[in-house]
Amino acid sequence: MCGIVGAIAGRDVVPVLVEGLKRLEYRGYDSAGIAVLDDGQVRRVRRTGRVAEMEAAAQAEGIHAQLGIGHTRWATHGGVTEANAHPHVSFGELAVVHNGIIENHDAQRDRLKALGYTFESQTDTEVIAHLVHHHQQQGHDLLAAVQAAAKELHGAYAIAVVSKREPGRMVGARMGCPLLVGLGEGENFLASDVSAIVQATRRVIFLEEGDTVDLTREGVRVFDASGALVTRDEHLSDVSLASLELGPYRHFMQKEIHEQPRAIADTIEQVIANNGFVPQLFGANAEAVLGDIEGVQILACGTSYYAGLTARYWIEAIAGVPCSVEIASEYRYRTVVANPKHLVVTISQSGETLDTMEALKYAKSLGHDKTLSICNVPESAIPRASALVYYTRAGAEIGVASTKAFTTQLVALFTLTCTLAKLRGRLAQAQEAAYLDDLRQLPGSVQHALNLEPQVQVWSERFAPKQHALFLGRGVHYPIALEGALKLKEISYIHAEAYPAGELKHGPLALVDTEMPVVVIAPNDSLLEKVKSNIQEVRARGGEMFVFADLDSHFGESEQVHVIRTPRHVGVLSPIVHSIPVQLLAYHAALARGTDVDKPRNLAKSVTVE
Ligand code: F6R
Repeated sequence: MCGIVGAIAGRDVVPVLVEGLKRLEYRGYDSAGIAVLDDGQVRRVRRTGRVAEMEAAAQAEGIHAQLGIGHTRWATHGGVTEANAHPHVSFGELAVVHNGIIENHDAQRDRLKALGYTFESQTDTEVIAHLVHHHQQQGHDLLAAVQAAAKELHGAYAIAVVSKREPGRMVGARMGCPLLVGLGEGENFLASDVSAIVQATRRVIFLEEGDTVDLTREGVRVFDASGALVTRDEHLSDVSLASLELGPYRHFMQKEIHEQPRAIADTIEQVIANNGFVPQLFGANAEAVLGDIEGVQILACGTSYYAGLTARYWIEAIAGVPCSVEIASEYRYRTVVANPKHLVVTISQSGETLDTMEALKYAKSLGHDKTLSICNVPESAIPRASALVYYTRAGAEIGVASTKAFTTQLVALFTLTCTLAKLRGRLAQAQEAAYLDDLRQLPGSVQHALNLEPQVQVWSERFAPKQHALFLGRGVHYPIALEGALKLKEISYIHAEAYPAGELKHGPLALVDTEMPVVVIAPNDSLLEKVKSNIQEVRARGGEMFVFADLDSHFGESEQVHVIRTPRHVGVLSPIVHSIPVQLLAYHAALARGTDVDKPRNLAKSVTVE
């Protein structure tokens, strides 16, 4: 979603801002802009469309400066227009960029209009610009004006502000949306995401809820919500520049699909190093938190939710712990009967999905203090709000469609399952050794599945002209069918639905005709024979089936039934291996349809609004 970058330096910051915005493109956006202080004046360039168009306009206007802010906007309040693009200015004196949503913007707008302010956009952000300006008019300096304005804003925000009254200063504030400071030598930076500034510095400070920050070239001062000067820890970011570059691949999604053996190996490294499933993998006091739980409540959105659905099969079958999985945006608005002895597990690649964060806050307000975050972004909001954390080590995921984050989430959830089973005395030593061995073999099995790409590509050409597709799976592979359908629809725009195969004859079978491709995930597990019967139901109605079956499934091919054989059955970890071909199918179908694979329409990488 929206992205922020700001810089104050002794050199021209425009290239820094543009580079930062380009690195934020992956989050999804529809317009971009920068505002700089050049010769004591606020100069601004905004464009709908790509950062490159805004960059060309800035070059054409000859914009150079030593202080500036930039933004990529994903429209919420007001359409995709240049007038609504950030930065927003007040009286040409002050410029603001903003991530998040100001909930009381209507009331503030009315108040500011009464004070003589006029509005050029439909955004909630313009309210912030005028409000800060209003407080400056009351005699406050920029920092105090931002702090006063922040007290009057309800909702979620990360902002960066510059003012021509104080040309050597940049001020930021955060509440509910991430914002971090980058520390350089004689230059400092603000960003919503470390990838925006990693080319300039790796030394970062993550701001906390309610913080404001005052940046000059020489230094950085952070104030907490009460206005007291505070010290926040400095971290050294390990985001690798290589993970932000495309390398030899056509798309980040393709690159990230192929990075999965490495990402999985990195994620299980700590488990293998410990030679077992020990609670400490989840944090220092994990044994106390996990030891006496009576159930697991998983909360997540989208693909992360499907990881949770997969884990439910493992957690109940292997650990013997009751487990429910709920979409975070539903849970947070539901009257929940809470059992504080249940472990609340949030799953989020980004660690900043607003609905998941709010669901966690709600769970905590109901007395849940046993909380665990499974997350891919260190120091992001959700793990920071959780008692325990397991970081997946997928590396930066740039493609909007989640791939390596999903499979590493599954690895983390399997590790949780085995740890819970062991704590409850349900994991015999031999079984633990066998599961560890399965994990060790997993990167190899995933690589084997990746080698199927040419075959999947041939299938994808048959999918490309279709308007609809059905995905079927049973048991622990049903969530993989859901994930396959989500991947296909989000990047190829082919309408796809997934069903547990046994549910077919209760309705969806009516959709099956010769035009409806039916993808079936059919590994050799205890439900294979059931799946085979379900397939007969499709076959009898003329449907064309595309079956992913492992080498042991013994599927016969026919004119109507096409089979791609995934590696030999890998036991409980089979859903991870079967995620690969459905990702590849979606990728190649999208490629054949010529869609924007890494930035599908209307979607954002990190969903920081409701
Ligand atoms: C789909 C996808 C989304 C995310 C969802 C949650 O490919 O990526 O469905 O899974 O927006 O995001 P996180 O995991 O960052 O909370």
